Amino acid sequence: MTPKRLGILISGRGSNMETLLKAAQQPSCPYAPALVIANKPDAGGLDKARSYGVAAEAIDHKLFGKDREAFERAMDGRLKAAGVELVALAGFMRVLTPWFVNEWAGRLINIHPSLLPKYPGVDTHKRCLEAGDTVHGCTVHQVTAGVDEGPVIGQAEIDVVPGDTPDTLAARVLKAEHVLFPRCLAAVARKAGTRVREDLVVDGVTVRLYAPAGQTAVNPRQ
Ligand code: GRF
Repeated sequence: MTPKRLGILISGRGSNMETLLKAAQQPSCPYAPALVIANKPDAGGLDKARSYGVAAEAIDHKLFGKDREAFERAMDGRLKAAGVELVALAGFMRVLTPWFVNEWAGRLINIHPSLLPKYPGVDTHKRCLEAGDTVHGCTVHQVTAGVDEGPVIGQAEIDVVPGDTPDTLAARVLKAEHVLFPRCLAAVARKAGTRVREDLVVDGVTVRLYAPAGQTAVNPRQ
């Protein structure tokens, strides 16, 4: 199978992006990073991507003022020029318009730091602690016009422990994100998936991976 050409959109440090770039170094990986775009020129992830030999550029959304679609048309043009077939939002902190979402429908995948449908939007770790939840985690999902609402591809769960703060929780959820995202993206690129549950220990954190019943399932071993 020819690997799908992957575009990655970022806004910051790009640790999720890096897990995708690392996974793509395996010969069996069904996606190949073609282009990284950041909406912020100072995004740390840009140099990180270049250190993997991947083309990386900034398209500063501020240059487009309030015209979100003009910004997105600029990104869309660069993605298409690079032959991108699948787009990963890896800590991309701009809400996309229905125009862009429609243009990439079914080929646009986001990672969100909560167990959706709980806590769409921002401050997910704080909201989880305030609610007194005992489990938290992250979700990889298809992007649709509603923010953080698209069909779930896979989720990873971690335990909330006594004394957790938003920062300690964010750090453990991030480890789960790094495990979940490459696996889900591989499943999407292969148009495959097997309903499997798996518990992993990642740097001392137990991460429970699963695809919700009735949703697109993911084989965490991919
Ligand atoms: C991640 O927690 C992601 O889920 C959220 O923003 C963070 C980005 O981190 N949307 P990174 O840039 O991938 O390190």
